[in-house]
Amino acid sequence: MSAILKLDHLNVSYPTAGEPIRALDNICIEFQPEEFVVALGASGCGKTTLLNVMAGFINPTSGTIALKDKPIHGPGKDRGVVFQKHALLPWLNVLENVEFGLKIQGVGKAQRREIAIDNLNLVGLADFGDHPIYQLSGGMQQRVGLARALTSDPEILLMDEPLGALDAFTRESMQELILKVWDKTHKTVFFITHSIEEALFMATRLIVMSPRPGRITHQYDLDFCRKFIAGTPTRAIKSSQDFIKIREEILAIIHGEEEETM
Ligand SMILES: Nc1ncnc2c1ncn2[C@@H]1O[C@H](COP(=O)(O)OP(=O)(O)O)[C@@H](O)[C@H]1O
Ligand SMILES: [Mg+2]
Repeated sequence: MSAILKLDHLNVSYPTAGEPIRALDNICIEFQPEEFVVALGASGCGKTTLLNVMAGFINPTSGTIALKDKPIHGPGKDRGVVFQKHALLPWLNVLENVEFGLKIQGVGKAQRREIAIDNLNLVGLADFGDHPIYQLSGGMQQRVGLARALTSDPEILLMDEPLGALDAFTRESMQELILKVWDKTHKTVFFITHSIEEALFMATRLIVMSPRPGRITHQYDLDFCRKFIAGTPTRAIKSSQDFIKIREEILAIIHGEEEETM
């Protein structure tokens, strides 16, 4: 199988008045079709920088990044982005927000409406098309953001701590919703979090990052998300021995690294 996305010996440095900040150091990673890759790491380890390079918002200082063998030089509709804070347009209603990208791409009215409604259905917001954005809860706003990111039928979904601002209950049901959408759409996903539990629950592959310079230090293949898709309840998964064992293992790694960099 050929990779959807490939990053090879990728480095990003931010210039400063003094020493440049090495936000990403020698990142080599491939994303296979339908993988759910989660990046976990403390604040400042380069997660957002990594996502921004994939989105085409920033260029690497050196190294290469390619989507289906084509170098990435800027943003494109082959990548859908969901931000931590929704980036919806407050003067448009839910449906208009979801359609907006398609409108810009020149998709006709009837067709873009149909696509937008399909995607609102997918995130469980079919009845909210005519609602203004400010009337929605934080979780619903993130669902609109997800529907919008899906409208261009991207090759990969890029999600930067999309659940970071939600309360614990909403957060867990959003984890479940995102996994169901992933299962239905067969998208490849790159998802950032600093919650270990969230990372373990959602990932088919977990990459653990550490700061100064930002590197990938560990990788794990996981199948907790597939157990959820197959019908095991979330709580049963998150309280299982396997889950707790790997959670503690990763906690120990992250704490060890923190001590090293202190
Ligand atoms: N535009 C920027 N200019 C200078 N330094 C930056 C910039 N963006 C991020 N950084 C620095 O790069 C490092 C990685 O940041 P970031 O990718 O935002 O990490 P994370 O998302 O994991 O918190 C941090 O040390 C941060 O301060
Ligand atoms: Mg970040």
